[in-house]
Amino acid sequence: MKFLNVDTYQEMSRQAANLISAQVIMKPDSILGLATGSTPIGTYKQLIEWYKKGDIDFSKVISINLDEYVGLDANNINSYRYFMDKNLFDKINIVKENTFVPLGTAENLEEECKKYDENIKQLGGIDLQLLGIGLDGHIGFNEPSEVFTKNTHIVDLDKSTIEANSRFFGSIDSVPKKAITMGMASIMRAKKILLIANGKGKKEILNKALFGPITPQIPASILQLHPDITVIYSEE
Ligand code: F6R
Repeated sequence: MKFLNVDTYQEMSRQAANLISAQVIMKPDSILGLATGSTPIGTYKQLIEWYKKGDIDFSKVISINLDEYVGLDANNINSYRYFMDKNLFDKINIVKENTFVPLGTAENLEEECKKYDENIKQLGGIDLQLLGIGLDGHIGFNEPSEVFTKNTHIVDLDKSTIEANSRFFGSIDSVPKKAITMGMASIMRAKKILLIANGKGKKEILNKALFGPITPQIPASILQLHPDITVIYSEE
């Protein structure tokens, strides 16, 4: 594991964007696994800046997002599809049809989960997976549990996750209680993993996940077993 402790959020974002752009430059048709949330916003901003300068070309990139809230569609400002369009996809030259986010409004959610895994398999798996980490140690929306769930599945969000994410929704009651998330197998099969985290509040869970026992009670702890993981942390 490579662990980079940097001083500022901006530095974390720049270093993460560096690794993502290196991936795209080396393999223009990369399959990028992407995350939402506050942490990667700076990374996406940096990538957009470099794209505008002509330094990165996303025209052949395929992206696969980790998760989506059940019940929210692309027009809902709190959906992860909306987040990705506004914070990245609409500002770079990625082909929209090549961007995959689970469909939280699918009529048959079980079927959507199966289709999502099938698609990842057909694409040949993820080259680089960008991850954030939740305060309870979740990655994607794989919440603490008795087991590591392998495949894309529907989850009941933890109280702490609902509370943390209510900052975007205005009230706790408006936060969806369920989400659809990629499972541990697709994440762990990614060739490279890039985990970013910032803020004093994430320090304890990050330490537990990376240096404590591997347990499904701290889903991110399984990342210790990945052969090519880079972690970038900034206390800011
Ligand atoms: C979002 C995701 C989540 C977040 C985590 C941290 O797609 O997969 O696991 O990475 O909840 O969120 P922030 O960055 O908002 O602290």
